[in-house]
This record gives sequence, structure tokens and C-alpha cells, in this order.
Amino acid sequence: MNDLLIQHIGQLLLPKKTDRPLKGKELDELKIIEDGTVVVKDGRIIYAGPFTEDYEARQTIDATGKVVSPSLVDAHTHLVHGGSREHEMSLKRQGASYLEILEQGGGIHSTVRATREASEEELFRKSEYHLLTMMHHGVLAVESKSGYGLDKENELKQLRVSHALADKYKLDMKHTFLGPHAVPKGREGHAFLEEMIAILPDVKEYADFADIFCETGVFTIDESRYYMQKAKEAGFRVKIHADEIDPLGGLELAIEEDAISADHLVAASDRGKEMLKNSDTVAVLLPGTTFYLGKNDYADARGMLDNNGAIAVATDFNPGSCVTNNLQMVMAIAALKLKLTPNEIWNAVTVNAAKAIGLEAGTIDAGDKANLVIWHAPNHEYIPYHYGINHAEKVIKDGKVIV
Ligand code: NIG
Ligand code: FE
Repeated sequence: MNDLLIQHIGQLLLPKKTDRPLKGKELDELKIIEDGTVVVKDGRIIYAGPFTEDYEARQTIDATGKVVSPSLVDAHTHLVHGGSREHEMSLKRQGASYLEILEQGGGIHSTVRATREASEEELFRKSEYHLLTMMHHGVLAVESKSGYGLDKENELKQLRVSHALADKYKLDMKHTFLGPHAVPKGREGHAFLEEMIAILPDVKEYADFADIFCETGVFTIDESRYYMQKAKEAGFRVKIHADEIDPLGGLELAIEEDAISADHLVAASDRGKEMLKNSDTVAVLLPGTTFYLGKNDYADARGMLDNNGAIAVATDFNPGSCVTNNLQMVMAIAALKLKLTPNEIWNAVTVNAAKAIGLEAGTIDAGDKANLVIWHAPNHEYIPYHYGINHAEKVIKDGKVIV
């Protein structure tokens, strides 16, 4: 007997299963079945396609007038962190920039202090709450970065919390070591970078990727290249926070070093965008961050797609530059500010987001894990359109309704 039958689905969204990320025009191709059926057995999809009465199941859900999609993938988060930074809002109103606050010992440094002070248990409870919010909003696959420890003990603490969350909720999670996220006050940049490189073998057990914040006043292009090469020697696939504020050539570096993703890219150069043509490095765009930093210029998503690049969209959830873990809200910003079409957005938060973190997720073909969302929305355009609220009506994980 099958476990679950979802019938009369108003719109069933079926992103394409591929080995490589969807590139350029492919991102706008999304199979949508009107009046669809999904059948689940033992936590896996048995059938997902046009309406059929060929199946029976223990539980039936009528999804008339609703949208069903794969659950969402948030490919870039700083989920595990101590404290919060609401006081920075007024500093910014007084004219301080993100990098000035960082330079003065606030910003990332302030979250580092709070994260170091938090016990592993406290960090777990706080992150668990944020993760549950994400799951309620339809996200069942998450990338989670360290980077608020800036020493071996505290970076490992963050990564252990990330693993404990994945274990407790049996979630598809990828864990990223972001030791070079800031240079601690009073330290010399290169010496600190060497310290982070030296702990790569220790974090290997807990991290799938190694990441670095390449930015003015943080790590230079040369330092980032050096770190990425050392991380690759230590067996990591690399990622980079690149060209977020200043155009330093981070996208070019990511492609040269065959990074699995290059993230932010608001200030990416034309040359970098052209290089996307011949690369499977996924450009992970984080428009919620640009929005929260109050900038007018967003990443050039259209230019990247015109160059046949692969793009994904994620939250960047963190306490300083993007304080939301609601990926649906970021889908709305992607529609308004990145000028992506609804099809492009759905692919960017499912299949391509999964590719950006090396996960098998974001599709609902026969054999896939039955990780789905039933949306209280008449069509897939509606979700980025009616912004700021939660449209996930039911979240189904491994075939079970969990929300
Ligand atoms: O991706 N840019 C660097 N890191 C984070 C922000 C971290 C913070 O401000 O706490 C980001 O935007
Ligand atoms: Fe980030």
C-alpha cells in the first residue's frame, strides 16, 4: 500500500533533474502540470505527473487550487550564530556603512563575541528555532556556515551544532567552514589566515566546503587564492563570498579555482560574468542582503544568464547583512530586483540551489525523496508576488506531513 496520494494538484512544479546546474535560458524552463498527482511510498516519490486514478494510498490530500513543488533549498546561510545586532540599524541611520561598523569592531566581530560566549547548548537552541522557522517556510535542505568563531575551538563548536541539527531533524544539510570570515582585532591578516589554514585538517571531519570572505578590509584576492588552493590541497571543494561590496575579481578567482559556488557577486566584473559561460560554478545571488544593506544596485542576474551562467538564489541569513530566514521573501526580492521570471526563481531555489551545495535535492521525480511543499497559492507566480508572508500550507518531509 502507498503512504500518501496528493490529488488534483492545481499546479505541480517539476524542475528538471540534471547532473549539471541549469544554465542561461535553461533556467526559465520549468515543467508545470495542471491537475497533477503525486504518489509517495516509504518516503520516496513513486509517481509525479498528470492526474491518474491508478494509485491508492493510506492518506489522500486534495490539492485542488494549490501549488505543489519540491521543498526549497537554502544554499547560503549563517544559521548558527550567537546574539543579534539590532543596534546596528540606528548606527546605519546615522550614516555608518557596513564596512565601517566592521572596521570599528562591530559587525561580524560583535557576533563573534556573542558566539564565543554562547555555550554549545545555547547555540543549538537558538539555531534550532531559526531552522524550524525555515522548515515552516518550506525549506528542507540547508547550507550552514561557521565563521563566527575565528578560532579552532569556536569554529568547531559552530560546526558541531550544525551537525547536531542535521542529525536531530534528519535534514539534508551541508556544512561550510568559513574561518577566514574576518580578521580578529589586533591580529595581522596573513598570520590569522595561516592559523585558519592550519586547522583545515581538524575541521575536515565536520565541513563539506571551505569558504572565505574576499572583500576590501577583510581578505584580498591573493589571500583568497592562497586559501582556496590550500583548502583544495586539504581535500575541500571551495566557495567564496565574492564581489559583495567592491569589485575585486572574486568571481574570476572562483571560476579559476573551480569553486562549487561564488556567492553575492553584486559588484562582479563583466569579465567574470563572461567567464561563467565555460564554467559550472554556480553564482549564488543573495538579493535579501542587497535589500537589507540598503543598496540600489543588485547583482546583474540577467547579465549572468545572458552569458549562459548558472545562478541560484539564497537568503544569506545572518544577524548583520540579511536578517531573514524566509526564503519566500527573498524570492519576492529576486522577482522585483534581480528581474528574474517566476520559472527562473523556482529553479534557482530548488535544483540550482542544490547544485550550489552539491546536494541531490530540489526535484520530485520517481525515486526522489518525498520532500514537498503544498502552497496555499493558485499558481507559482503568486508566491513571489504576495510577499512577506508564509504561503507554505503543508511541508512534507520523507513522505510525512511535518508542518
Ligand atoms: O554573507 N559578507 C560576509 N558575511 C556575511 C555577513 C556576516 C555578518 O554581517 O555577520 C554575508 O553577508
Ligand atoms: Fe554570507
